[in-house]
Amino acid sequence: MKKSIYEPREDSLLLSDQVRKNAKGVVLDMGTGSGIQAEAALELRQVERVIAVDKNPAAVKHCKRTIKKRKLECYVSDLFAVFKKGKLKGTQFDTIIFNPPYLPADKNKPDMALIGGKKGYEVVERFLADAPHHLKTGGSILLLFSNLTNRHKVEELIKLNGFEFKQLASSRQFFEELFIYQLAKNETAQKLEPMGFSDIHYLDEGQRGVIFTAMHNGRKVAIKIKKPTSEAEGRVRNEGRTLELVNKHGLGPKLLMAKPDLVVYEFVEGVFLKDWLPKARKAQIKPLLRDLLHQGFVLDKLGVAKEEMHRPLKNAIVAKNKVVLIDWERTHQSKKAHNVTQLCQFLMVWRDVLTKKGMRIKDKDVIEAAKAYKQKPSDTTFNAVVKTIDKS
Ligand SMILES: C[S@@+](CC[C@H](N)C(=O)[O-])C[C@H]1O[C@@H](n2cnc3c(N)ncnc32)[C@H](O)[C@@H]1O
Repeated sequence: MKKSIYEPREDSLLLSDQVRKNAKGVVLDMGTGSGIQAEAALELRQVERVIAVDKNPAAVKHCKRTIKKRKLECYVSDLFAVFKKGKLKGTQFDTIIFNPPYLPADKNKPDMALIGGKKGYEVVERFLADAPHHLKTGGSILLLFSNLTNRHKVEELIKLNGFEFKQLASSRQFFEELFIYQLAKNETAQKLEPMGFSDIHYLDEGQRGVIFTAMHNGRKVAIKIKKPTSEAEGRVRNEGRTLELVNKHGLGPKLLMAKPDLVVYEFVEGVFLKDWLPKARKAQIKPLLRDLLHQGFVLDKLGVAKEEMHRPLKNAIVAKNKVVLIDWERTHQSKKAHNVTQLCQFLMVWRDVLTKKGMRIKDKDVIEAAKAYKQKPSDTTFNAVVKTIDKS
C-alpha cells in the first residue's frame, strides 16, 4: 500500500466491527483509505451496493485495484461532491460510514488522513451539514471520532443538523478515547421529509415547542413542533389558528401549514427587536414603533391578547425596517385585550435607550394616553398614544 494511504489502525478496526453489525442496503464508505470499511460491508448479505470515495486519488486507485467485487464502485471525491452531478447525482444511502480525519491541526503532521482542520472537527462539520441530503429517511450513519475532536462540539453539530445519536462503542488507548456514534434522522426529520421538507435544522426551543428551519417548495420555513414532554396541550394548534386569523390582517409570519402538533410558517429573516433597537437611528425607530402600536391596535380590535407585548423583544423581528410579531402560541381571545397598553409599558421601560437616540418620550404623556385608551379604546384615544411617539 502506498505511504500516503491510511493503514488500518485501532480506530479502523473498532469501526469495521460496527459496520459488520449495522450496515445494510446501499452503503457509502466515506474516506475509504485502505478500503477496510467497504470490505467489511461487502461481506454482508443485507448490503446491496457499496460506493467508496476518498479525496486522495491514491486511496481510490488502491481500492479499485485490490477489491474486486461486483457490488463495489470507487470514486475520487471531496466528501459528497461526486453526488452533486453526473450519474451519481442525488444518490441516497441506507448506511454511511465515516472514519474522518478528526485531529486538530499539527504543524509537524500535515496529514490529510488525520487532520480535520484547525480545531479538528471541521471536516466532520462539513460532512454533517451535507449528510442529511444523502441519507435515506430511515438510514443511519456510523461516525467515529475521538475525545481530541471536542466531543461536545460534535454532539452539538449532530443535533443542529437534525440527527439524534447513540454511542455504539468506545475504546481508550493512552491519552485518546475513541467513540463510535450511530446517527439517525431525528423524529421530526423522519416525519417531515415525506411531506416534502428538506434541510431540516434545529434552531431553538422553548418550554413547549422546538423550532426547526427547513426548505419547502423552494422557500425557507420555520417549523414549530410540540415537545413530547410539554403538557401544554393545544398550544401549537392555538398558534396555527391565531396565525390564520391575524394573517388576514397582515400580521405575523405567513402561515403555510397547521396541524394539531406542528405549525409551519415562513421564516422571517431579520433581527430581534432587542438587538435592532440599540443600533437603529431615530428616523428608523419612530416609524417602526408607530407600526408596532398599530399592530397592537389591530389585535385589540380583534380581541386577541398576544401577551408579553410589554417586552416584545424576542417575539418581534425587524425585517427590512418592518416589524413582524412571532410566537403566537400563548395568545388567547379576550374582550379586554390590552396589547396597546402593554406596548406603552414597553416604551417606558425602554425610555433610556430611546432618549439616547434623541427621542423624548415623556412618561407622564404616555401614562395619560394609555389610561384614556384603556378606559375607552377608540381611534381617537389610540391616535393620542401614537402622538407620544410623533412628538418625541
Ligand atoms: C482516518 S482515515 C480512515 C481510512 C479508512 N476509512 C479507515 O477506517 O481506516 C480518513 C480518510 O479520509 C480521507 N479524507 C480526508 N478528507 C476527506 C474529504 N474531504 N473527502 C473525502 N475523503 C477525505 C483521507 O484521505 C483518509 O483516507
